[in-house]
Amino acid sequence: MALSPVLEPPTSPFPFPPTTTLRCDPKTIFLRTRKAQIQDARAIHQLIDSFSHDGTLLPRSYAEICANIRTFTIVETHTHQFLGCAALHIYGPHLAEIRSIVVRPNIKGCGAGGQLVHELLRQANARGIQCVCLFTRIPGFFDHFHFEVADRQIFREKVSKDCQHCGRRNTCDETAMALGELPASRDMPDNDLFLPRLHSEFVQLQL
Ligand SMILES: CC(C)(COP(=O)(O)OP(=O)(O)OC[C@H]1O[C@@H](n2cnc3c(N)ncnc32)[C@H](O)[C@@H]1OP(=O)(O)O)[C@@H](O)C(=O)NCCC(=O)NCCS
Repeated sequence: MALSPVLEPPTSPFPFPPTTTLRCDPKTIFLRTRKAQIQDARAIHQLIDSFSHDGTLLPRSYAEICANIRTFTIVETHTHQFLGCAALHIYGPHLAEIRSIVVRPNIKGCGAGGQLVHELLRQANARGIQCVCLFTRIPGFFDHFHFEVADRQIFREKVSKDCQHCGRRNTCDETAMALGELPASRDMPDNDLFLPRLHSEFVQLQL
């Protein structure tokens, strides 16, 4: 059987049961985190997509989510109701980034977002990663987890990956934050993109 390329999520009215009956009550709701499976990709895509139209989250295609599913962690109820997700993107031992953190609107304030942050920090710590960064419009949320505001230019791989192609790069209102030991330039991967160009590399225009 030929496998078709993964471009769009399979069509189905709801990837997860509605959670209108969920109450944000610590006595009745038990949250847990786990690494995402490929079967979670559709729910992850739908939730991120619903927050990307107003710029709250960077848009991520279904295909990209599938390809990077191992970076995602999800939070769910003990009955496997999908509630939210976040991804840990690893640049190297010096740096990882928390991306695409979001919980379903009707579950905000129940601790699900906090559980995701704690779990990603645990994963980064278990891998010996020195610094975890993120770019956000809600620094107050990450204050709770001891992230501190940092100069965005320190995170050159992140800026190169996302900011250079972003339509809002000149009007960006996101705050860079970090937890841990900030990366030094010696930690950066050897990549031409990050090396200052020598004058001799530029072609002189003949006017
Ligand atoms: C940000 C988000 C993930 C938080 O999830 P949540 O489950 O509501 O957060 P929690 O209930 O775990 O809150 C943990 C703490 O942070 C606080 N908090 C939550 N949202 C906050 C915000 N926007 N600003 C400041 N503090 C916030 C809570 O009051 C709580 O504090 P407490 O421990 O003193 O009670 C969720 O609001 C969301 O999905 N937002 C839309 C997507 C988004 O903006 N993602 C961030 C992109 S960088």
